[in-house]
Amino acid sequence: MRTRIAVIGPGAVGGAVAAWLDQSADNEVILCARTTLDRLVVETPSRRIEAHPPVLTEPAEAHTVDWVLVATKTYDAAATRRWLAPLVGPATRVAVLQNGVEHVARFAQFASPERIVPAVVDIPAERSAPGRVRQRRMGTIVVPQGENGRAFIDLLADTPITVSTTEDFTTAAWKKLALNCAGAVSALTLKPAGISWREDIAEIQRAMVRECVAVGHAEGAKLDPDLPEEVIAHYRDGPKDSVNSLHADRVAGRPLELDARNGVIVRLAAKHGIAAPINAMVVALIEAATND
Ligand SMILES: NC(=O)c1ccc[n+]([C@@H]2O[C@H](COP(=O)([O-])OP(=O)(O)OC[C@H]3O[C@@H](n4cnc5c(N)ncnc54)[C@H](OP(=O)(O)O)[C@@H]3O)[C@@H](O)[C@H]2O)c1
Repeated sequence: MRTRIAVIGPGAVGGAVAAWLDQSADNEVILCARTTLDRLVVETPSRRIEAHPPVLTEPAEAHTVDWVLVATKTYDAAATRRWLAPLVGPATRVAVLQNGVEHVARFAQFASPERIVPAVVDIPAERSAPGRVRQRRMGTIVVPQGENGRAFIDLLADTPITVSTTEDFTTAAWKKLALNCAGAVSALTLKPAGISWREDIAEIQRAMVRECVAVGHAEGAKLDPDLPEEVIAHYRDGPKDSVNSLHADRVAGRPLELDARNGVIVRLAAKHGIAAPINAMVVALIEAATND
């Protein structure tokens, strides 16, 4: 029997993963979309792939599947959850391919937490139009060790995307958050990654990451004290003109994943009685700059 897979949010990440999964005759892929599309066309690092899965735009049209992959932006979680009621049965697994550290919390009321597979995604991709995606690298996905993790590896086994498991998903997710939180300075200043070469800006980024490390520790992540320096090295070693998604979304006038990338540090810091003034300030400044 074919594996039935529903991809909620066939944008950059969801579109690329759905198109790769659809290449296998063992899979039956359906797309759960907000904006309809005629087909998926993905320019991948190796070749152009196309897929013609059915596209649903109304949750009422959906039926139970084996796998749900949630690939909407974090701020669309509320609307995304409407899809889960018809798609999720007792044996359905729900993989959450989103940024941040709250993958399970975001959907726990709508699917059994032990069937939710949180995923740290590193698949650089962008969408030029509905169904049209450029995947810059094949990329990687990290999921927790265990039965769900093994099942997710099997699901993606015929694709060129590298999936691995980790025994400490909390740490993996917070490490990615440390990198992402520092990227907010680009969204604030509208300057690409090379801005980290300014020592005054790097100092702000180090402070943001130090706050992230403190809150991550309180949440159970094992984060190296050298992480702030590693994050600065990451931004300095990469292309100076690299534009992160928060920056790109602000330039395009789209909503921002600010709460999932920086707001979460401020919220959880307050929960643990930890000070996170630099992230709080950056969140306030970006919110003030982007809201009337
Ligand atoms: N792109 C990357 O390089 C990358 C890399 C690593 C991690 N991520 C993370 O992956 C997640 C997805 O990012 P992305 O870049 O793929 O976003 P994206 O290109 O904006 O795609 C999101 C998709 O979700 C759809 N959507 C929104 N609300 C929906 C709803 N209620 N029902 C069905 N579909 C809905 C959007 O529809 P519309 O067509 O109507 O907008 C869009 O197709 C984010 O958390 C992001 O941070 C992205």
